[in-house]
Amino acid sequence: MAMNNDKLSYRAMSMDDIPAILAIEQEAFSSPWTEEAFVNELKNNMFAKYVVMEYGGELIGYGGMWIIMDEAHVTNIAIRSDVRGLGLGDRLMSQLRRTAIFYGAVRMTLEVRVSNVHAQRLYRKHGFEPAGVRPNYYSDNNEDALIMWAELEASRSGTGEGNQ
Ligand SMILES: CC(C)(COP(=O)(O)OP(=O)(O)OC[C@H]1O[C@@H](n2cnc3c(N)ncnc32)[C@H](O)[C@@H]1OP(=O)(O)O)[C@@H](O)C(=O)NCCC(=O)NCCS
Repeated sequence: MAMNNDKLSYRAMSMDDIPAILAIEQEAFSSPWTEEAFVNELKNNMFAKYVVMEYGGELIGYGGMWIIMDEAHVTNIAIRSDVRGLGLGDRLMSQLRRTAIFYGAVRMTLEVRVSNVHAQRLYRKHGFEPAGVRPNYYSDNNEDALIMWAELEASRSGTGEGNQ
């Protein structure tokens, strides 16, 4: 798929997005979140901010975080499998950072499977550095989680559109 940047857009996640999100969630994760989990985040979690990425009006990715005081904790980020490796995850991460800064966060954290080197490379490009390990964090295979942290600076960007 040849990317036309004019067709990319972002907006806050809504309940109507959940079916498309569940389809991506199921191909992206070995322990996908349920519909109930997303509904709960959107309806009941006052700290949660979820963003969807669209290409020509079609939902192709999403990500979210909990913003508590000045810290943003990323809960998930995924790009539809047929459009991975095209730089969209990089752009979505830039958008999540902008959203976090907008809501007053100055640093951001996440957990990532130690085996998920693609995601880790993406996070390093966005200033995340390893800060520890949570042993046996993922219950499906007892895999360890790498904890990563990034300082958020309004001027920093990935290789995609940034905050120039
Ligand atoms: C992780 C994910 C969101 C990245 O999105 P993406 O659109 O594929 O990533 P991009 O094309 O923007 O690539 C960004 C960086 O990721 C890494 N990457 C992405 N695809 C890669 C591949 N096939 N091989 C190696 N590195 C890869 C690279 O570092 C790349 O930067 P580079 O092109 O400058 O080397 C996406 O692969 C995904 O949804 N994976 C499944 C869900 C998941 O693992 N989420 C993270 C959980 S913590």
